[in-house]
Amino acid sequence: MNFHVLTLFPEVFGSLNHSMIKRGVEDGKISINPVNIRDFATNARRQTDGYPYGGGAGMIISAEPIYLAYKSLNLSGSRVVYLTPGGRVFDQALAQELSLERDLILLCGHYEGIDQRIIDEIVTDEVSIGDFVLTGGEIAAMAVIDATARLVPDVIKPESLAHESFSNGLLEYPQYTRPPEFLGRKVPEVLLSGHHGEIERWRHEMALEKTRRKRPDLLDGGACGVQE
Ligand code: 6GU
Repeated sequence: MNFHVLTLFPEVFGSLNHSMIKRGVEDGKISINPVNIRDFATNARRQTDGYPYGGGAGMIISAEPIYLAYKSLNLSGSRVVYLTPGGRVFDQALAQELSLERDLILLCGHYEGIDQRIIDEIVTDEVSIGDFVLTGGEIAAMAVIDATARLVPDVIKPESLAHESFSNGLLEYPQYTRPPEFLGRKVPEVLLSGHHGEIERWRHEMALEKTRRKRPDLLDGGACGVQE
């Protein structure tokens, strides 16, 4: 799967090149292609924004350089996700859905916004990562890329996906590793018992209890990516 990012800050996407995303890139399962909108500014000053018509604070990213950057990709049928706090809130189900695309274009805004005509012309999905305001879409785009890339087949082991939070609509059960006792806190007996059936039952119970306590909304038929 190829992630193409239209942005004024392409350098920040270098920080995605670690751990399993890095391996996914090296194995040719995914690619990350940041495209600098500024490279498509047509005026002498390479200006990419302007004052808002009608007045008001801040600057608006112009439609033209974004459009030229988009056209340079030659991917007219692909989904274009505009990252904006006003979009549909990103969740595991949407990550699952996006992971099936061959190419995904992510459009990052900045300043006070982008010209509405580019949204009307090329954007297929408006996505937010939560109810708070970031200074730009880049961090949101990185979250969408990270969550989506790991679901692309063969990027990470299927076993790792099966039991994690949200994959079965529940939060993850607690995990422990060595030593068996730390600051007087012992690893639950059942995990040392070797009884796989009992361990499974305990983990499911703990996952249910934790979900009930921390995220009861997930138990009311919420929008989780059920993949079992
Ligand atoms: Cl996608 N963009 C911005 N600027 N702020 C956000 C967001 C996106 N999601 C949550 N806050």
